[in-house]
Amino acid sequence: MKRIFSGVQPTGNLHLGNYLGALKNWVGLQDEFDCLYGIVDLHALTLPQEPDALRAHTREVAAAFLAAGIDTKRCAIFNQSAVPGHSQLAWLLACMTPLGWLNRMTQFKDKAGKHKENAGLGLYAYPVLMAADVLLYKATHVPVGEDQKQHLELVRDIAGAFNRRYGVEYFPLPEPQIFGEATRVMSLRDGTAKMSKSDNSDNSRINLTDDRDTIARKIRKAKTDPAPLPDDPKDLEGRPEAANLIGIYAALADLPRDAVLARFAGAQFSAFKEALTALAVDVLGPIGEEMARLLKDPGAVDAILRDGAEHANALAEKHLAEIDDLIGLLHA
Ligand code: TRP
Repeated sequence: MKRIFSGVQPTGNLHLGNYLGALKNWVGLQDEFDCLYGIVDLHALTLPQEPDALRAHTREVAAAFLAAGIDTKRCAIFNQSAVPGHSQLAWLLACMTPLGWLNRMTQFKDKAGKHKENAGLGLYAYPVLMAADVLLYKATHVPVGEDQKQHLELVRDIAGAFNRRYGVEYFPLPEPQIFGEATRVMSLRDGTAKMSKSDNSDNSRINLTDDRDTIARKIRKAKTDPAPLPDDPKDLEGRPEAANLIGIYAALADLPRDAVLARFAGAQFSAFKEALTALAVDVLGPIGEEMARLLKDPGAVDAILRDGAEHANALAEKHLAEIDDLIGLLHA
C-alpha cells in the first residue's frame, strides 16, 4: 500500500508558488496513492496567529485544495488539529528524539534568528510534529519542497529510532518526493528571491485569489531584462527573471523548458508576456473563481473538512492503539 501525507500551513496569501510547487503535483498523485492532505494549523501556531485569520486561512487552503482539483472521493483533506493523534504521536516521538538531531535543523536556526532563547519550544519541536503527521498514517511517500528535505530526513531517522527501540518494522521510512526546480517559483519583482506570502510587494506574487485582470497586470509589470529570449536553456544563466518566467510558463503548460524556449526563441518579452498572461489566466482564473465560490459557503467547506478528519481519525486511532501497545502504554 503506497500512502502519501503532505501538508500546507494556513498562513494566508496562497500563491502561484504554492500551486506549482505543491497543489498541482498533489493532484497528479491521487491516482497512484492513498492520499491524505493536511492543513497543518498546529504548525502555523509555531508563530503567533490571530484567531479569526487562522480560521479564515484554514478554509482558504481547503478551498484551494478543492479548486486545484483534489478529489475528496479519493483523498482526505482535513485540518491537523481536528485529528488529536498528531499531537499525541508528536509527544511520543519527542521522547525518542535527541536534541542533537534538532540542533542541526537549519530552518529553526533561520526562523529563531539571533535571540534563540526567545524562540518557542514549538518552533524547535516543529520537525517532530511533522514526523508525527507522516508516521501517524504510516505514509510511504511525502511530496515536499526542497526546503523541507532536511526535515524529512529527520522523519526517517525518528521512524528508524522507533523501529530499533521496539525491535519492529512498524513505521515505513517515508520517501521524499521532491519536485525539482521546474516548480521553484521566484518573485516577479526579483528573480533571485523565492515567491513569498510575506513579500511586502503584492506585485511580487500571483495570489490564487487574484482575478483575471490582476493576474494580467502583475505579469505585465513583472521584471525582465532587455535581451530577447534565447533558444538555448544555458543562455538563461545569469538571467534570473527570464528563467523564472520561462519556468512558470513551462510548469503551467506542462512542457519542458526547452520546448518553451523553442517556441519563443528570439521573441521580445512583450510578446512572450502576452502568451504567458493568456496561459496563466486560463489555468489560474478558474481556480480563483472556484475558491471564491467555495468560500461564500464556509459551512460546505467545513463539512468537507469534517469528513476528511473522520476518515483520517479512523486510521490514526487504529495506528495509535498499535503504537501505544508497542510502547507499553496501558489502556485498561
Ligand atoms: N513543514 C511543511 C512546510 O512548511 C508543512 C508540513 C507540515 C508538512 N507537516 C508536514 C509537509 C508533513 C509534509 C509532510 O512546507
